[in-house]
Amino acid sequence: MKEKIVIKAEHTAEHHDHGGRACMSRRQFLLAGGAVMAVAAIGGVPGLAQAAAVKSYPRQKVGSLSALKQGVPVEFAYPFPDVQNILVKLGTPAGAGVGAGKDVVAFNQQCTHMGGPLQASYKAQHQMLGPCPLHLTTFDLTKHGMVVSGHGTESLPQILLEVKGDDIYAVGVLGLIYGYADNLAGRA
Ligand code: FES
Repeated sequence: MKEKIVIKAEHTAEHHDHGGRACMSRRQFLLAGGAVMAVAAIGGVPGLAQAAAVKSYPRQKVGSLSALKQGVPVEFAYPFPDVQNILVKLGTPAGAGVGAGKDVVAFNQQCTHMGGPLQASYKAQHQMLGPCPLHLTTFDLTKHGMVVSGHGTESLPQILLEVKGDDIYAVGVLGLIYGYADNLAGRA
């Protein structure tokens, strides 16, 4: 598919030849660049980007599979002591879930709208966190923390997990934690 994009650029009216060298106009460059980026995204580059992002995060044990009870969240701090999250066994497979049932996930507990506290708001029957006490945003923990109602527009940051034996490790964060310009640089 990348080949097609290059061929098209070489045969449009906006293609110029400067002393035998091919030269794309600014418009062509932007169009071709955007198309290549789209192709790359569909081709699985987000997985690579995710792996690269994970690399710079600390690896921290946050619980064990045998100690988790379905529907009962356990709190932990990651990647800093003031960033509170929950680890929970949902009882249904979830995006980025770990464990035999792919149902163990972890999420930050600060609402992405204006930072409202989501502590003690897990609804086990729906696998959702919320509603936020400030403006009622609710997040679906089976779908990467997607907003299902309320004022928020951004998914809840998901703590990426890995399992080794019975131990569960936090290895990264998907999404920006509220109040941070960079998850690893501290609060803005
Ligand atoms: S701060 Fe949570 S909905 Fe506004």
